[in-house]
Amino acid sequence: MDKKKIILSGMRPTGKLHIGHFVGALENWVHLQDSYQNYHLIADYHTLTTSLDTTNVYNDTIDMVIDWVACGIDPVLSPIFRQSKVKEHTELFLIFSMLITKARLEKNPTLKDQIRDLNLQSITYGHLGYPVLQAADILLYKGDLVPVGEDQVPHVEITRHIAGLFNEQYILKDGKKIFPIPEPKITKFARLPGLDGKAKMSKSLGNTILISDGEDEIKNKMKKAFTDPNKLRKGDKGNPDICLVFTYHNKFNPGEVPEIREGCSSGTLGCFDCKMNIANKIKDYFAPVHNKRSELEKNIDYIKNVLSDGETKAKAVAENTMGEVREAMKLG
Ligand code: TRP
Repeated sequence: MDKKKIILSGMRPTGKLHIGHFVGALENWVHLQDSYQNYHLIADYHTLTTSLDTTNVYNDTIDMVIDWVACGIDPVLSPIFRQSKVKEHTELFLIFSMLITKARLEKNPTLKDQIRDLNLQSITYGHLGYPVLQAADILLYKGDLVPVGEDQVPHVEITRHIAGLFNEQYILKDGKKIFPIPEPKITKFARLPGLDGKAKMSKSLGNTILISDGEDEIKNKMKKAFTDPNKLRKGDKGNPDICLVFTYHNKFNPGEVPEIREGCSSGTLGCFDCKMNIANKIKDYFAPVHNKRSELEKNIDYIKNVLSDGETKAKAVAENTMGEVREAMKLG
Protein backbone atom coordinates (compact mmCIF):
# COMPACT_ATOMS: atom_id res chain seq x y z
CA MET A 1 0.00 0.00 0.00
CA ASP A 2 1.22 3.49 -0.82
CA LYS A 3 2.23 5.59 2.11
CA LYS A 4 -0.45 8.16 2.91
CA LYS A 5 0.36 11.72 2.01
CA ILE A 6 0.83 14.06 4.91
CA ILE A 7 -1.39 17.02 5.70
CA LEU A 8 -0.40 19.67 8.17
CA SER A 9 -3.22 21.98 9.12
CA GLY A 10 -3.06 24.71 11.69
CA MET A 11 -5.15 27.35 13.41
CA ARG A 12 -4.48 30.00 15.96
CA PRO A 13 -6.22 29.26 19.28
CA THR A 14 -9.11 31.70 19.10
CA GLY A 15 -11.41 30.00 21.62
CA LYS A 16 -14.84 28.80 20.63
CA LEU A 17 -15.03 28.50 16.88
CA HIS A 18 -17.76 29.87 14.63
CA ILE A 19 -19.63 28.19 11.83
CA GLY A 20 -17.39 30.02 9.34
CA HIS A 21 -14.44 28.04 10.72
CA PHE A 22 -16.50 24.91 10.26
CA VAL A 23 -17.34 25.62 6.64
CA GLY A 24 -13.95 27.08 5.75
CA ALA A 25 -11.70 24.56 7.46
CA LEU A 26 -12.91 22.01 9.97
CA GLU A 27 -15.39 20.21 7.79
CA ASN A 28 -12.68 19.82 5.21
CA TRP A 29 -10.19 18.49 7.75
CA VAL A 30 -12.66 15.86 8.92
CA HIS A 31 -13.28 14.86 5.35
CA LEU A 32 -9.56 14.39 4.68
CA GLN A 33 -8.66 12.42 7.74
CA ASP A 34 -9.18 8.93 6.36
CA SER A 35 -7.24 9.37 3.14
CA TYR A 36 -4.27 11.32 4.52
CA GLN A 37 -2.09 11.32 7.59
CA ASN A 38 -3.19 14.54 9.25
CA TYR A 39 -1.44 16.61 11.89
CA HIS A 40 -3.42 19.37 13.56
CA LEU A 41 -1.35 22.16 14.93
CA ILE A 42 -2.47 24.80 17.43
CA ALA A 43 -0.44 27.86 16.54
CA ASP A 44 -0.19 29.35 20.03
CA TYR A 45 3.10 31.17 19.41
CA HIS A 46 1.53 32.82 16.38
CA THR A 47 -0.92 34.67 18.64
CA LEU A 48 2.03 36.74 19.92
CA THR A 49 2.22 38.50 16.57
CA THR A 50 -1.01 40.34 17.23
CA SER A 51 -1.29 40.34 21.03
CA LEU A 52 1.25 39.92 23.79
CA ASP A 53 -1.50 39.25 26.30
CA THR A 54 -1.36 35.49 26.78
CA THR A 55 -3.86 35.29 29.64
CA ASN A 56 -6.48 33.49 27.61
CA VAL A 57 -4.35 31.41 25.30
CA TYR A 58 -4.63 28.21 27.33
CA ASN A 59 -8.41 28.40 27.81
CA ASP A 60 -8.88 29.37 24.19
CA THR A 61 -6.84 26.33 23.22
CA ILE A 62 -9.04 24.00 25.28
CA ASP A 63 -12.22 25.54 23.84
CA MET A 64 -10.91 25.16 20.33
CA VAL A 65 -9.87 21.55 20.81
CA ILE A 66 -13.34 20.76 22.18
CA ASP A 67 -14.81 22.15 18.94
CA TRP A 68 -12.32 20.23 16.79
CA VAL A 69 -13.10 16.92 18.44
CA ALA A 70 -16.85 17.60 18.64
CA CYS A 71 -16.89 18.31 14.90
CA GLY A 72 -15.31 14.96 14.17
CA ILE A 73 -11.52 15.25 14.25
CA ASP A 74 -10.34 11.88 15.52
CA PRO A 75 -7.33 12.61 17.73
CA VAL A 76 -6.19 8.98 17.56
CA LEU A 77 -5.84 9.15 13.78
CA SER A 78 -4.75 12.76 13.64
CA PRO A 79 -2.54 14.13 16.42
CA ILE A 80 -3.60 17.48 17.89
CA PHE A 81 -0.75 19.45 19.43
CA ARG A 82 0.50 22.88 20.45
CA GLN A 83 3.36 24.51 18.63
CA SER A 84 4.83 25.74 21.93
CA LYS A 85 5.04 22.19 23.32
CA VAL A 86 7.30 20.82 20.61
CA LYS A 87 10.57 22.71 20.91
CA GLU A 88 11.79 21.57 17.51
CA HIS A 89 9.49 24.20 15.96
CA THR A 90 11.60 27.02 17.35
CA GLU A 91 14.83 25.21 16.50
CA LEU A 92 13.96 24.72 12.87
CA PHE A 93 12.52 28.25 12.74
CA LEU A 94 15.93 29.59 13.73
CA ILE A 95 17.75 27.67 11.03
CA PHE A 96 15.18 28.62 8.39
CA SER A 97 15.41 32.27 9.39
CA MET A 98 19.03 32.24 8.22
CA LEU A 99 18.02 31.05 4.75
CA ILE A 100 15.32 33.51 3.76
CA THR A 101 15.99 37.18 3.15
CA LYS A 102 14.33 40.05 4.92
CA ALA A 103 13.30 41.46 1.52
CA ARG A 104 11.41 38.26 0.68
CA LEU A 105 9.48 38.44 3.96
CA GLU A 106 8.68 42.11 3.48
CA LYS A 107 7.01 41.28 0.18
CA ASN A 108 4.48 39.00 1.90
CA PRO A 109 1.03 40.34 0.91
CA THR A 110 -0.68 38.80 3.95
CA LEU A 111 1.61 40.79 6.20
CA LYS A 112 0.85 43.96 4.25
CA ASP A 113 -2.88 43.31 4.73
CA GLN A 114 -2.40 42.79 8.46
CA ILE A 115 -0.45 46.02 8.77
CA ARG A 116 -3.27 47.84 6.99
CA ASP A 117 -6.19 46.11 8.77
CA LEU A 118 -4.70 46.40 12.24
CA ASN A 119 -3.33 49.85 11.49
CA LEU A 120 0.12 48.90 12.79
CA GLN A 121 2.71 51.67 12.91
CA SER A 122 5.58 49.24 13.18
CA ILE A 123 5.98 45.51 13.37
CA THR A 124 8.17 43.25 15.44
CA TYR A 125 10.95 41.06 14.14
CA GLY A 126 8.86 38.02 15.12
CA HIS A 127 5.81 39.26 13.24
CA LEU A 128 7.84 39.78 10.08
CA GLY A 129 9.26 36.29 10.55
CA TYR A 130 6.13 34.37 11.52
CA PRO A 131 5.73 32.73 8.11
CA VAL A 132 9.16 31.21 8.77
CA LEU A 133 7.79 29.64 11.94
CA GLN A 134 4.87 28.42 9.86
CA ALA A 135 7.34 26.86 7.41
CA ALA A 136 8.93 25.02 10.34
CA ASP A 137 5.43 23.89 11.46
CA ILE A 138 4.76 22.37 8.06
CA LEU A 139 8.17 20.96 7.22
CA LEU A 140 8.93 19.31 10.57
CA TYR A 141 6.13 16.88 9.69
CA LYS A 142 7.15 16.80 6.04
CA GLY A 143 3.71 18.05 5.08
CA ASP A 144 2.80 17.42 1.44
CA LEU A 145 -0.42 19.41 1.58
CA VAL A 146 -1.58 22.37 3.63
CA PRO A 147 -5.33 23.11 3.69
CA VAL A 148 -5.63 26.89 3.86
CA GLY A 149 -7.77 29.81 2.86
CA GLU A 150 -6.60 32.23 0.19
CA ASP A 151 -4.98 34.57 2.71
CA GLN A 152 -2.54 31.88 3.80
CA VAL A 153 -1.35 30.88 0.33
CA PRO A 154 1.58 33.35 0.43
CA HIS A 155 2.78 31.56 3.56
CA VAL A 156 2.76 28.21 1.83
CA GLU A 157 4.74 29.85 -0.95
CA ILE A 158 7.31 31.03 1.57
CA THR A 159 7.41 27.47 2.93
CA ARG A 160 8.07 26.10 -0.56
CA HIS A 161 10.81 28.65 -1.08
CA ILE A 162 12.49 27.77 2.23
CA ALA A 163 12.23 24.00 1.60
CA GLY A 164 13.94 24.53 -1.76
CA LEU A 165 16.70 26.66 -0.24
CA PHE A 166 17.38 24.11 2.47
CA ASN A 167 17.33 21.13 0.11
CA GLU A 168 19.78 22.89 -2.17
CA GLN A 169 22.20 23.66 0.61
CA TYR A 170 22.05 20.53 2.75
CA ILE A 171 21.44 16.91 1.79
CA LEU A 172 21.68 13.64 3.65
CA LYS A 173 24.68 11.35 3.05
CA ASP A 174 22.71 9.13 0.68
CA GLY A 175 21.90 12.20 -1.43
CA LYS A 176 18.35 12.33 -0.11
CA LYS A 177 16.68 15.70 0.24
CA ILE A 178 14.93 16.10 3.57
CA PHE A 179 11.94 18.26 2.77
CA PRO A 180 8.99 17.88 0.40
CA ILE A 181 7.82 21.01 -1.44
CA PRO A 182 4.31 21.34 0.03
CA GLU A 183 1.24 22.40 -1.92
CA PRO A 184 -1.58 24.59 -0.63
CA LYS A 185 -4.94 22.87 -0.70
CA ILE A 186 -7.48 25.63 -1.05
CA THR A 187 -10.76 25.07 0.71
CA LYS A 188 -13.55 24.77 -1.83
CA PHE A 189 -16.56 26.41 -0.24
CA ALA A 190 -16.14 30.17 -0.09
CA ARG A 191 -16.10 31.72 3.33
CA LEU A 192 -19.41 32.22 5.09
CA PRO A 193 -20.34 35.90 5.24
CA GLY A 194 -20.84 37.47 8.67
CA LEU A 195 -24.26 38.33 10.09
CA ASP A 196 -23.56 41.99 9.30
CA GLY A 197 -23.10 41.21 5.63
CA LYS A 198 -19.31 41.56 5.71
CA ALA A 199 -17.56 39.07 3.49
CA LYS A 200 -16.06 37.16 6.36
CA MET A 201 -17.33 35.83 9.67
CA SER A 202 -14.81 36.80 12.28
CA LYS A 203 -14.59 36.99 16.03
CA SER A 204 -13.05 40.45 15.94
CA LEU A 205 -15.94 41.77 13.84
CA GLY A 206 -18.52 40.33 16.28
CA ASN A 207 -20.63 38.96 13.44
CA THR A 208 -20.49 35.25 14.15
CA ILE A 209 -22.66 32.29 14.99
CA LEU A 210 -20.63 29.97 17.19
CA ILE A 211 -20.60 26.23 16.66
CA SER A 212 -21.55 26.01 20.33
CA ASP A 213 -24.48 28.48 20.15
CA GLY A 214 -27.82 27.05 21.27
CA GLU A 215 -31.19 27.55 19.62
CA ASP A 216 -32.00 30.85 21.39
CA GLU A 217 -28.63 32.38 20.60
CA ILE A 218 -28.84 31.37 16.97
CA LYS A 219 -32.36 32.80 16.66
CA ASN A 220 -31.49 36.06 18.43
CA LYS A 221 -28.42 36.59 16.31
CA MET A 222 -30.27 35.67 13.15
CA LYS A 223 -33.02 38.22 13.85
CA LYS A 224 -30.40 40.98 13.57
CA ALA A 225 -28.81 39.60 10.41
CA PHE A 226 -28.60 41.93 7.40
CA THR A 227 -30.81 41.14 4.44
CA ASP A 228 -31.58 42.86 1.16
CA PRO A 229 -32.07 46.51 2.26
CA ASN A 230 -34.81 46.97 -0.36
CA LYS A 231 -36.94 44.24 1.18
CA LEU A 232 -38.43 45.88 4.24
CA ARG A 233 -41.47 43.74 4.81
CA LYS A 234 -43.16 40.59 3.63
CA GLY A 235 -44.60 41.30 0.22
CA ASP A 236 -41.58 43.32 -0.93
CA LYS A 237 -39.57 41.61 -3.60
CA GLY A 238 -36.06 40.67 -2.51
CA ASN A 239 -32.83 39.72 -4.18
CA PRO A 240 -31.56 36.48 -2.63
CA ASP A 241 -28.22 36.80 -4.40
CA ILE A 242 -27.18 39.70 -2.20
CA CYS A 243 -28.58 38.21 1.00
CA LEU A 244 -26.27 36.48 3.48
CA VAL A 245 -29.19 34.47 4.89
CA PHE A 246 -29.62 32.95 1.45
CA THR A 247 -25.93 31.96 1.46
CA TYR A 248 -26.57 30.15 4.73
CA HIS A 249 -29.53 28.35 3.15
CA ASN A 250 -27.25 27.22 0.34
CA LYS A 251 -24.95 25.62 2.83
CA PHE A 252 -27.22 24.33 5.58
CA ASN A 253 -30.57 23.92 3.83
CA PRO A 254 -29.81 23.10 0.18
CA GLY A 255 -33.07 21.16 -0.34
CA GLU A 256 -35.27 24.23 0.05
CA VAL A 257 -33.10 26.64 -1.94
CA PRO A 258 -35.31 26.80 -5.09
CA GLU A 259 -38.49 27.59 -3.15
CA ILE A 260 -36.70 30.13 -0.94
CA ARG A 261 -35.31 31.85 -4.01
CA GLU A 262 -38.78 31.97 -5.49
CA GLY A 263 -40.47 33.10 -2.26
CA CYS A 264 -37.92 35.86 -1.62
CA SER A 265 -37.92 37.15 -5.21
CA SER A 266 -41.71 37.19 -5.47
CA GLY A 267 -42.23 38.59 -1.98
CA THR A 268 -44.36 35.74 -0.61
CA LEU A 269 -41.62 34.82 1.85
CA GLY A 270 -40.81 37.35 4.57
CA CYS A 271 -37.31 37.77 5.99
CA PHE A 272 -38.36 36.86 9.53
CA ASP A 273 -39.74 33.46 8.51
CA CYS A 274 -36.78 32.86 6.27
CA LYS A 275 -34.40 33.64 9.14
CA MET A 276 -36.19 31.42 11.65
CA ASN A 277 -36.20 28.61 9.10
CA ILE A 278 -32.43 28.76 8.64
CA ALA A 279 -31.87 29.19 12.39
CA ASN A 280 -33.69 25.88 12.90
CA LYS A 281 -31.70 24.22 10.14
CA ILE A 282 -28.40 25.39 11.62
CA LYS A 283 -29.52 24.17 15.05
CA ASP A 284 -30.38 20.73 13.60
CA TYR A 285 -27.18 20.59 11.58
CA PHE A 286 -25.05 21.10 14.67
CA ALA A 287 -27.18 19.03 17.08
CA PRO A 288 -24.83 16.00 17.01
CA VAL A 289 -21.86 18.33 17.49
CA HIS A 290 -23.60 19.87 20.51
CA ASN A 291 -24.19 16.48 22.08
CA LYS A 292 -20.57 15.57 21.67
CA ARG A 293 -19.53 18.99 22.91
CA SER A 294 -21.48 18.75 26.14
CA GLU A 295 -19.92 15.33 26.85
CA LEU A 296 -16.45 16.74 26.21
CA GLU A 297 -17.05 19.80 28.36
CA LYS A 298 -17.72 17.47 31.28
CA ASN A 299 -14.44 15.70 30.70
CA ILE A 300 -11.68 18.28 30.37
CA ASP A 301 -9.16 15.67 31.50
CA TYR A 302 -9.88 13.81 28.28
CA ILE A 303 -9.12 16.97 26.27
CA LYS A 304 -5.88 17.42 28.21
CA ASN A 305 -4.99 13.84 27.34
CA VAL A 306 -5.75 14.47 23.68
CA LEU A 307 -3.17 17.24 23.79
CA SER A 308 -0.52 15.33 25.67
CA ASP A 309 -0.92 12.24 23.44
CA GLY A 310 -0.82 14.43 20.33
CA GLU A 311 2.23 16.24 21.63
CA THR A 312 4.06 12.96 22.31
CA LYS A 313 3.34 11.76 18.78
CA ALA A 314 4.23 15.09 17.18
CA LYS A 315 7.43 15.30 19.20
CA ALA A 316 8.60 11.90 17.94
CA VAL A 317 8.16 12.97 14.31
CA ALA A 318 9.70 16.39 14.91
CA GLU A 319 12.73 14.89 16.67
CA ASN A 320 13.29 12.54 13.80
CA THR A 321 13.23 15.37 11.25
CA MET A 322 15.54 17.50 13.38
CA GLY A 323 17.92 14.53 13.61
CA GLU A 324 18.07 14.50 9.81
CA VAL A 325 18.55 18.26 9.70
CA ARG A 326 21.47 18.07 12.12
CA GLU A 327 22.97 15.21 10.17
CA ALA A 328 22.66 17.02 6.85
CA MET A 329 24.09 20.18 8.37
CA LYS A 330 26.92 18.13 9.90
CA LEU A 331 26.17 19.56 13.30
CA GLY A 332 26.94 16.18 14.88
N1 TRP B 1 -0.70 31.29 10.08
C1 TRP B 1 -1.94 30.61 10.31
C2 TRP B 1 -2.99 31.65 10.68
O1 TRP B 1 -2.65 32.74 11.05
C3 TRP B 1 -1.86 29.59 11.40
C4 TRP B 1 -0.80 28.57 11.16
C5 TRP B 1 0.38 28.47 11.85
C6 TRP B 1 -0.81 27.54 10.19
N2 TRP B 1 1.09 27.42 11.39
C7 TRP B 1 0.41 26.81 10.38
C8 TRP B 1 -1.70 27.13 9.18
C9 TRP B 1 0.75 25.74 9.57
C10 TRP B 1 -1.36 26.07 8.38
C11 TRP B 1 -0.16 25.37 8.57
O2 TRP B 1 -4.16 31.36 10.62
